[in-house]
Amino acid sequence: MSGTDTVDRTPDAEPSRTADSKPARAEATSAERASAAGQAGNLAAGQAGNLAAGQAGNLAAGQAGNPAAEPARKPGGEPARTAPATAADRSPEPGRAPEPGGTPAPVFSVRNLWKVFGHRPDRVPGSDLAELTPEELREKAGCTVAVRDVSFDVRPGEVFVVMGLSGSGKSTLVRCLTRLIEPTSGSIAIDGEDVRSMDKNALRELRRHRAAMVFQHFGLLPHRTVLDNVAYGLEIQGMAKAERRARAAEMVDKVGLAGMEARRPGQLSGGQQQRVGLARALAADPEVLLFDEPFSALDPLIRRDMQEEVVRLHRDEGRTMVFITHDLSEALRIGDRIALMRGGRVVQCGTPEEIVGSPADDYVRDFVQDVPREQVLTVRRAMRPATLGEARGDTGPTVTAGTTVAEAIDVVARDGKPARVLDGDRCVGIVDFKCLLNVVAGLDGPQRGGRLEKAAA
Ligand SMILES: Nc1ncnc2c1ncn2[C@@H]1O[C@H](COP(=O)(O)OP(=O)(O)O)[C@@H](O)[C@H]1O
Ligand SMILES: [Mg+2]
Repeated sequence: MSGTDTVDRTPDAEPSRTADSKPARAEATSAERASAAGQAGNLAAGQAGNLAAGQAGNLAAGQAGNPAAEPARKPGGEPARTAPATAADRSPEPGRAPEPGGTPAPVFSVRNLWKVFGHRPDRVPGSDLAELTPEELREKAGCTVAVRDVSFDVRPGEVFVVMGLSGSGKSTLVRCLTRLIEPTSGSIAIDGEDVRSMDKNALRELRRHRAAMVFQHFGLLPHRTVLDNVAYGLEIQGMAKAERRARAAEMVDKVGLAGMEARRPGQLSGGQQQRVGLARALAADPEVLLFDEPFSALDPLIRRDMQEEVVRLHRDEGRTMVFITHDLSEALRIGDRIALMRGGRVVQCGTPEEIVGSPADDYVRDFVQDVPREQVLTVRRAMRPATLGEARGDTGPTVTAGTTVAEAIDVVARDGKPARVLDGDRCVGIVDFKCLLNVVAGLDGPQRGGRLEKAAA
């Protein structure tokens, strides 16, 4: 399977999509999620996001410009529910080896990854050919660059979203991670281990136990019951019947399908089928779950439901996830960090707050322009310095530093007074009507005035 450009749909790659779960590696992430999850439509409170205002966080290195002609598209503009900056760290990116202190070693570490399809693809990365437009390259060399010099780390316990329009290279990228598609050049490590040098057995192990893939079209077996579908992957792994059925039952319960164990896929709604797929991927208990647009085919409401399911599972178990989507609101809702792709490149990689608050270029700015900023950005971005008196005062409302601007507006409006922003016990700033509304109006931060200037232009 590896070594070809085709997509692997064998049992090695779990057929459906999933969320995941696992021991609490997510620290702040999960905790933040906790608040985020349950409350529909509304931004979570109290997330410990720790973005310093306006700082553009970790942009993926070296990814600038971008050829590819991509049709402008509207981001859906649905309220984004989650703004949590992964509290943990914001560390300086690189490093594929475990780092001393601070940031935990990445689960996946990808450096300068290229995937070129077509005739003699190896000549393209780093050569003049790579500078051609996609059309020229196709004509002159018969090649398509699907992934172009991409570098990023996926940290333990985070939901890492890869977002981009159709054709931007997302599926190719995620499939390269476990070599369901063979990369053309670059390096990929999982827990520090070189994926590109793995042999067949190691790859099988990788796909089954370490980084299971959940596809959009989750091939459920129609003649099998829900329980047996969920147990299927375990059966392939050779787990004894009683054990795998017990584990499958646990997973069925976990995804909210208790009581439906004996049904067949045909007797389930689309959303329920997705849950079966989810349970199946969870049953294998992989370290990382890779989702390739698992919810694209679902109705909006069911989709929302499934997103919340992912957030919930992630909150409960903190499993690392790489989640592909073309939908910005989905990315903002579930991502701890988002890598935004265009024409095979990652044009920006950062928290939802960084992407929305500090877009790296005009493309990203256009992409996020309809996002309700107040639901994604936190008071860290809005606040002004406290005067001595304010900092010492202990009356009036307070908000935590991870509170969204929307929530802070609510607090300040109800109280009629500015709120102190607390980081632990410490007052780190003040939010009043003016600075909160500046965020809503797009008058905050480094892009100060960007929106309005644009509108006026
Ligand atoms: N097997 C292939 N052969 C040739 N070109 C491909 C192949 N798979 C994908 N591509 C091209 O690579 C680019 C990225 O595709 P893909 O990764 O599927 O994007 P996305 O998942 O973001 O929609 C597209 O231009 C697509 O046409
Ligand atoms: Mg795709």
